[in-house]
Amino acid sequence: MYSTLIIGTGISGLSLAYLLAKKGQRVCLITKEESAKKSNTFYAQGGIVFKGEKDSPSLLLKDILKAGGELVNKSIAKKISKIGPHLVEEFLIKEIGVRFNKENGKFCFTKEGAHSVQRILFRKDYTGREIEERLLNRVKENKNIDIRTNLMTIEFIVNTYHSKDPQERYKAKEVFGVYAFNIKEKKVEKIFAHNTVIATGGIGYLYKHTTNPDCATGDGIAMALRAGAGVLNAEFIQFHPTTLYLPHSNERFLISESVRGEGGIIVNKKGEDIIKKQHPLGSLAPRDIVSRSIFDYLTKTKEPCVYLDLSEVKKRYSIKDRFPQIYEKCLERGIDIEHQPVPIIPAAHYFCGGIKTNLNGETEIKRLYAIGECACTGLHGANRLASTSLLEGCTMAYLCSLKLNNSVQKISPKRLKSISDWYQPDGSSADPLLIEGDIENLRNLMWNYAGIIRSRKRLKRLTKDLSYLFNTTEEFYRENRLSKRLIELRNMITVSREIAIQSFRNKKSIGCHYITE
Ligand code: SIN
Repeated sequence: MYSTLIIGTGISGLSLAYLLAKKGQRVCLITKEESAKKSNTFYAQGGIVFKGEKDSPSLLLKDILKAGGELVNKSIAKKISKIGPHLVEEFLIKEIGVRFNKENGKFCFTKEGAHSVQRILFRKDYTGREIEERLLNRVKENKNIDIRTNLMTIEFIVNTYHSKDPQERYKAKEVFGVYAFNIKEKKVEKIFAHNTVIATGGIGYLYKHTTNPDCATGDGIAMALRAGAGVLNAEFIQFHPTTLYLPHSNERFLISESVRGEGGIIVNKKGEDIIKKQHPLGSLAPRDIVSRSIFDYLTKTKEPCVYLDLSEVKKRYSIKDRFPQIYEKCLERGIDIEHQPVPIIPAAHYFCGGIKTNLNGETEIKRLYAIGECACTGLHGANRLASTSLLEGCTMAYLCSLKLNNSVQKISPKRLKSISDWYQPDGSSADPLLIEGDIENLRNLMWNYAGIIRSRKRLKRLTKDLSYLFNTTEEFYRENRLSKRLIELRNMITVSREIAIQSFRNKKSIGCHYITE
């Protein structure tokens, strides 16, 4: 029996595990992946918000409100603007030992879209990898933490429906842990904990084109929805304006916004700036505006991509030195960005919505918490300000640890004893070809009908097509033995349906939800 069970090993999951175990809690940290490193955090390039020169919490707050619009939860944004940068220093830098770029002993700052000052700390173009590896090392050192890989959570154990004691159904809902599919041994385990925390990250893989790794299937959000927790702001999916365009591939490698922060400009094939006319900040305007301008331009001209002109960046840096990862990735694909512009196109990047929580991560269900990208505190409103995601993940983990370290309300052994085992049908495994076909189909539907520019007609069609996919998948799920991909498909459908419903319901274009009749 664990004090806390954490699902997900990005910045929020790892930080929380570390902070709880440090105070003596027994923690179980679960990932469905072979390696605990695999997470959205690992792939984050640009950086994390800190405090620049002539910066202040009120200036940061102003930028967050401007990017996210009227939907930002102001009190949350105010609190994060104040304590977030402080935690970057005290926790990530001093305690965990994250190494951000420095020059002459001073931190270097970069800029990204919609920031009014330079305030972003970075480690070349692999800031996320640096944070992930440092945190994971610290987590691995602590004997109070069991790291379980290859374990795919299926559902939360909820007293009201998984208990054999009929009296439980009349009580308030509580989560006692998870049913999880052991991918290697192909069996389902029950993992009990007094508190369960969802830190499963984003949903980018629901879209055909994304900057996210294939693990971003919204698992925690889907499980929370099925358990009855509220999910907010699901229509707000942020599309990153600059990902590498390759003519014969769906792969979309992120070209960090910090490249534009250092002078990169979005141009057409003639070299003309195509964003300047749309917004006074030009290529560094908020992401929703830049992505939509590119999308509009491509639709009108029928050109396959636009370009990132690096002439200004090259005047100040060697590209290879400042952006080594991006340089290598492009070179491997035949594009030498020291000498030619980068072909780019937008792709799905970040979920501004999520499981409704307060800043401590408390959900509407007792003993169930959510932190990081899968949670929605309202910080991002309708459009997230760049480099605030790692900041939110780290801040929520810290505040959640204060809450959970303060008091652990134990579940009685009698209540746990009455929890049913998981039922697995005896049939064969679901046909992988059908599952992969459905995943591909779903990702196309989401890209085409719930993408950068939506319409009510497209969303209506999406809802219908998703209902069909939902019914066939539920049938698979009931009749076949489990597999990781089947569970992921089911989760992807659950979250996609919620995005389709909430997008259809919101008739007003705002931030990254843009809808035409
Ligand atoms: C980037 O490097 O462009 C991503 C940063 C972010 O999403 O905040």
